[in-house]
Amino acid sequence: MQPQHRLTIARRVSRVVLTQFSDLLLTPEDRMRDYYRRSYARMDGYYYPKHFMEIPYWIPILCSMFRPDRFKRQLMIVDDMSAAERECQAAGPDEAFLMSVLDANLECVLRLAGTGAQLILGGYIDARQFEQYPNVRYLSEPADILQVVPGAQAVSTLDYSLFSGMECIPRYSLSSGCSFRCAFCTVPSKLVLASADSLEAEASALRDLRFKLVFMDDKSFGEAPNWQKLESVGRQINRYNEKFTGFIVQTPPSLACRPGFLEKCRDLGVRYVEFGVETVNDKLLTYLRKPFRVRHLMQACEIARSLGLYVIPNFIVGIPGDDYAGTASWLSDNVDIVPVVNVNWLSLHFGNVRGDLGLPVHGVHDRDQNSSTKSWLTAVEEAAGWDMISHAYQLTDQYWTGRRTYSDVTSR
Ligand SMILES: C[S@@+](CC[C@H](N)C(=O)[O-])C[C@H]1O[C@@H](n2cnc3c(N)ncnc32)[C@H](O)[C@@H]1O
Ligand code: SF4
Repeated sequence: MQPQHRLTIARRVSRVVLTQFSDLLLTPEDRMRDYYRRSYARMDGYYYPKHFMEIPYWIPILCSMFRPDRFKRQLMIVDDMSAAERECQAAGPDEAFLMSVLDANLECVLRLAGTGAQLILGGYIDARQFEQYPNVRYLSEPADILQVVPGAQAVSTLDYSLFSGMECIPRYSLSSGCSFRCAFCTVPSKLVLASADSLEAEASALRDLRFKLVFMDDKSFGEAPNWQKLESVGRQINRYNEKFTGFIVQTPPSLACRPGFLEKCRDLGVRYVEFGVETVNDKLLTYLRKPFRVRHLMQACEIARSLGLYVIPNFIVGIPGDDYAGTASWLSDNVDIVPVVNVNWLSLHFGNVRGDLGLPVHGVHDRDQNSSTKSWLTAVEEAAGWDMISHAYQLTDQYWTGRRTYSDVTSR
């Protein structure tokens, strides 16, 4: 839990500016983004908006707290810092800028804090960094907004109106949390089911977006007992969106390989399955406390292949002692069902109470999933991680160039 900082009642607020920093600003040159853009173009339903891979989930959550008849709500996508500074400087005392702060955008947020505009922040950094700014309030959770903005209401059905018409892959969740306790992960270990009463409204809330696929935010899909509600969610979406083709789910291979599970998922509308593979090495999976072993992964891939489903592995590079041999060999054996890979550098997130990997945290790079600089890696080990990434990109690019997932989509 973050210490709450300056939790005082704000002046009357009549305009809220939900502010998101563009990926193009934060990482102007990005090999990973180029790879995703190429790969997504070959994957039916995988839209990639201009400024971010997906709609920043915090915005529809917070937007639901500001009724449109009471607040003027606005989306500000920052791809030019000087323009954003001018916007903040011009703001009146009844205007507030809301932002989610991460290590990656911390410097930009500090710059906007310096303009004197009223900033309401939340996120995953040490809040003390904003102590010197009387115009900044750092909140530990969305519910705190009720205390600082008079007239705000509790979080209700997500509100996507600021993204109306955008081609994207929206998220939807039947549950939050995950009861596995992988050592590197910060997902809360309490599994909480979404209220049955809210499911229909949440499915309708996506109505004004343009999408073919929905990404299930459930961290380990199939763990929560309400997973089969997917069918009614799909039916509901199909009523207003005839282009809707199905769901992407994420789950560990040990859940996926349970008899009949993936088959049922396919029947409920699942089209792509993400596995938190991390590394194809049982010793390291034990070290990470992952809830599966390589044999589960092999089994789950065989089942997915037989059902015509596609698999997207999440890999973690930079795990001490990894030579990537198992991962490279697994990928080469399964590239026919793997149209794209997700790669993160092992990081020890701020606030990870489980972080018992026995690794030192010496600064921002150690906490950043996009940074290859880690205090536990030598230069040679870091280079080996990059080689693994190049190899995985190359392998999938080579196989998938000229191919498309669900190329027979019209016949479905
Ligand atoms: C929210 S998890 C869901 C995965 C799914 N529950 C599973 O285990 O199969 C998504 C992915 O984020 C990545 N991830 C999460 N925490 C990370 C960290 N501290 N360092 C690097 N990657 C991380 C992992 O690759 C993980 O599989
Ligand atoms: S990595 Fe996946 S399985 Fe492990 S704790 Fe996080 S969400 Fe759960």
